[in-house]
Amino acid sequence: MEEVSLCLMTRELCQALYEGWQNDPAIYMDMKECKPYHYNEAGVDRYFESRQTPSRVLLAIMRDGKPIGELQLKRIDWERKECTLSIHLQNDSVKGHGYGTAAEKLALTYAFDTLGMNAVNADTVVKNTRSQHVLEKVGFKFVEEKDGFRYYRFVR
Ligand SMILES: CC(C)(COP(=O)(O)OP(=O)(O)OC[C@H]1O[C@@H](n2cnc3c(N)ncnc32)[C@H](O)[C@@H]1OP(=O)(O)O)[C@@H](O)C(=O)NCCC(=O)NCCS
Repeated sequence: MEEVSLCLMTRELCQALYEGWQNDPAIYMDMKECKPYHYNEAGVDRYFESRQTPSRVLLAIMRDGKPIGELQLKRIDWERKECTLSIHLQNDSVKGHGYGTAAEKLALTYAFDTLGMNAVNADTVVKNTRSQHVLEKVGFKFVEEKDGFRYYRFVR
């Protein structure tokens, strides 16, 4: 398995990540919403700032000193100790090498040990079988399929 790590996303890492970003068709239920991504520095700054909230931790997936993806622990409910994991690698060149699997395992450890969560949720559109396979591979359990999404949960 290739080496990856997670760190808190910074503005600079976010810029570097999105300079090489491609939207992945697998995450769209409605393909009309899947448009090519065009890098825009001010837009990335706005995106980064909008993600700095108490209910979300934005992490960079790092490899060889460079960001290759983002991983969010969002909808953090500090009372119920639950959150939702979402992940998106930068572009096709970094997919299919085991990095997503490694990053999700690290994110679970971070959610449980650093954030003190008791459960982590995840959801994917039905067609995103690669994401579903990786979630199941790292230990998420399938909960239900509803309204075009498949829901997963990992309880420690
Ligand atoms: C989903 C994602 C995070 C997975 O990361 P990755 O590094 O590409 O995946 P990995 O290389 O770690 O593992 C891929 C696994 O899926 C399998 N796989 C590949 N394509 C598949 C498909 N169409 N259906 C089912 N499994 C598939 C691979 O064989 C591999 O499994 P294995 O290790 O048991 O052989 C990444 O591809 C990504 O960012 N995709 C775009 C965004 C996205 O879909 N995010 C999830 C939104 S819910």
